[in-house]
Amino acid sequence: MDITKLMYRDRLMEGERILVTGGGTGLGKEMTEAFLKLGAEVHICGRREGKLTETADELMSRHGGTVVGHACDIRDHANITAMIDTIWEGGALTGLVNNAAGNFISRTEDLSINGFNAIADIVFRGTFTMTHEVGTRLIKEGKRGNFLSILTTWVWNGGPFVVPSAMSKAGINVMTQSLATEWGRYGLRFNAIAPGLFPTEGMSARLSPGGRGDNSSDRMNPMGRHGEMHELANLAVFLMGPGAEWVNGQTIAIDGAGYQANSGNFYQTLAPLGDEDWAKMREMIKGTNAK
Ligand code: HXC
Repeated sequence: MDITKLMYRDRLMEGERILVTGGGTGLGKEMTEAFLKLGAEVHICGRREGKLTETADELMSRHGGTVVGHACDIRDHANITAMIDTIWEGGALTGLVNNAAGNFISRTEDLSINGFNAIADIVFRGTFTMTHEVGTRLIKEGKRGNFLSILTTWVWNGGPFVVPSAMSKAGINVMTQSLATEWGRYGLRFNAIAPGLFPTEGMSARLSPGGRGDNSSDRMNPMGRHGEMHELANLAVFLMGPGAEWVNGQTIAIDGAGYQANSGNFYQTLAPLGDEDWAKMREMIKGTNAK
C-alpha cells in the first residue's frame, strides 16, 4: 500500500487495541499497516506462526509501534479463548476486525459436505465465535467496542460457484445488523465492508486459478480498474477509528460500482465451463491450500 495516501491525521488511533483476524496476509495485512501507522496497537492472528512473525516484524520495522502475532485457528473455540485470554492480559481490546476467510470456486454439485464445512467453519462459525468471545467480555467489563467484518457484495445477490462463502458471509451480514441493534446499548457497534476486486495472492489462487473465474476484471468495472489497498484501508480506518461512532449496522461496498454494473458475482465467466475445466481448476486450487 502507498502509505502516503492514508487520509487521516497522525496518531488518530492512539489508545486503540485492535485484533485483525487473518492479519498476516492480504487485506488483513493492509488494514493492520494502516491502524499501526495511525498509532493503534494491533494484534493479528492466523494459522501460520511464521507468516505472522514475518508480517509483525516487517510492519514494526517500517512504522515502529506494536504488532503482536498469535497463531490461532478460528475454527477452534478453545484456540480462540486461549488467544483472547492472552491478549486480555495486556488490557481489553477496543476493536475486532473479522477478516479471516476461506474460499474456493466449485460447482455446487461437485462440493462435498466436508468442503462446505471447510468454508462455513472459518467464515460463519469462526467469525461468530470470535465476535461472541470479544463482545461478551466487553459487555461484562462495561467497555465500548468496535467490530468490522469483511464481506462481499454476494451477500446481496448470492454467489453462484462460491455458495458456502456467500451463505456464510450473508450470515455475518445479518449478524452485523442484528448485533448493531441488540448490543448498541452496550456501546458496541458493528459495521461491514463489501470489497470488490482488490487482488491478493490468496484470492487469485483460489478464485481465479490459471487466470479463470475473475469476473470483476478491470475492464468490466465502471471505473476501469480494480481497488487500491489504501482505498480499502481508508474506509476501514473511518469505520474503526474515532469520529464516526454513530455509523452502526452498515455494510458498505467499495467496488467502483462493480456490483451495480455486473452483479458482482462469478455467473458470467464460470457458467460456460465444462467438466474438464473444473477438474483442472480443482487440482490447481487444492495445490494452494494452507497447511
Ligand atoms: C472442491 C475442495 C477444494 C476445491 C478443498 N476442498 N478445496 N473441494 N474444490 N478447490 C474440499 C476437500 O476435498 C475436503 O473435502 C474439504 O474441502 C476440506 O479440504 P482441506 O484441504 O482439508 O481443507 P483445509 O486444509 O481446512 O483448507 C481450507 C480451505 C483452504 C478453505 C479449503 O482453501 C484454505 O486454507 N483457505 C484459506 C485462505 C483462503 O481461502 N483465502 C481466500 C479467501 S478469498 P473432502 O470431502 O474431500 O474431505 C475470499 C474472498 C471472497 O474469501 C470475496 C471475493 C470478492
